[in-house]
Amino acid sequence: MDRIRVLGGKKLSGKLCVSGAKNASLPAMAATLLVDEPILLKNVPDVWDVATMKQLLAELGTEVSRSSPNEFELRTRKILSHEATYDLVKTMRASVLVLGPLVARTGRARVSMPGGCAIGARPIDQHLSALEKLGADVHLEHGFVTVETDGLIGADIRFDTVTVTGTENLILAACLARGRTVLANCAREPEIVDLVRLLRRMGAQIEGEGTPRILIEGVDRLKGASHSIVPDRIETGTYLIAGALAGEDVELTHCRPDQIASLIAALRKARVSMDVEEERIRVRGSTPRLHGIDITTEPYPGFPTDMQAQLMVFLTQADGESSIMETIFENRFMHVAELSRMGARVELEGPQARIYGPNHLSGATVMATDLRASACLVLAALIAEGETWIERVYHLDRGYERMEEKLGALGAVIERVPSQV
Ligand code: EPZ
Repeated sequence: MDRIRVLGGKKLSGKLCVSGAKNASLPAMAATLLVDEPILLKNVPDVWDVATMKQLLAELGTEVSRSSPNEFELRTRKILSHEATYDLVKTMRASVLVLGPLVARTGRARVSMPGGCAIGARPIDQHLSALEKLGADVHLEHGFVTVETDGLIGADIRFDTVTVTGTENLILAACLARGRTVLANCAREPEIVDLVRLLRRMGAQIEGEGTPRILIEGVDRLKGASHSIVPDRIETGTYLIAGALAGEDVELTHCRPDQIASLIAALRKARVSMDVEEERIRVRGSTPRLHGIDITTEPYPGFPTDMQAQLMVFLTQADGESSIMETIFENRFMHVAELSRMGARVELEGPQARIYGPNHLSGATVMATDLRASACLVLAALIAEGETWIERVYHLDRGYERMEEKLGALGAVIERVPSQV
């Protein structure tokens, strides 16, 4: 397994171009199952989860063409299989996004139940109960969920829990259902808004995206389209914190600051100086004294859980006591043990982490446990004294495009050391 070596203490300066959003690319790719015409996707990040979704779609019958690292065409002339296998789903739980479109297009889908993952149990009960309300029969056995229907029929559905991929799955399913579907208590994430932009270009009739109430008028068929994926707001936030911690003068381009307003507000409160424009953010580090702050993770537009680990590193450098309340996932503090080994002072009490700063961090060999935890370890390594080795960086590669190249171009001393075996 590859490792990443970082020599901390270097100041970062220069421009960093943000990539397209992983979490918008995956549902957009799943949307190709709804139609037999080509879908051209641009500004797609070259990350492992996108490669995994391509592999899954290919097994279902999708042809991938005109493929370049960040742009490719998907076409599903015919569904060849209705099954998302255990091996693929256990690699990437977002495979569950093929459920809705497969059932809508063919009336059948069989998807290995995604087990829990490092950050929590992450059930899909909301996806399944909502599909039942659209007239599908849902059957669980041998670790698979089978969903079948003679034809989905529009319905009024209210999610008990705000769920991002649950909302996406149901939008995808309802596009071809007969009649009107009203989804209530929907997630409002920008990735959902981006998916609807694509679906509308494909001829879907949808309104209300980005609000808790989404209305979908089913249509008989959809058509091909091309679409440029929205910039990745979590990648933007991750590098914004890198600039706040280790930056001399860092500029993030091709990003959407409006989609990380909660993070920008938190960093301003902590006295980070930033110039924010429509598609760029300029951040200057070496703020005299960073102030401690308290944040609670919430569904969008609240503070994103996917930025929680990264903000924690930042708060180890702030004055005094800060706190983070994690309300979305039940086990998303696994980065704390590794940060503590680098000298961070963090105390956990159930869903709350208390951070006592400022801390001197020292380099160590640490292990990544999940995607955002691995990003937080890289951020810590940038400011730690001495050398840090980060193991199991395949977690990082799932969602960050060429992180060591992007940070290296800003002046970080960071390299990927391929595994010997
Ligand atoms: C999406 O996951 C993102 N992944 C996650 O990003 C992100 O952390 C999460 O939303 C929250 O913002 C993708 O978009 C591919 P949820 P998702 O369904 O949809 C509970 C990353 O780092 N729930 O919104 O799986 C669930 O257990 C990843 O890029 C149910 O109880 O998250 C959780 O506590 C990590 N029943 C909460 O809702 C359900 O049927 C939010 O989960 C569905 C969810």
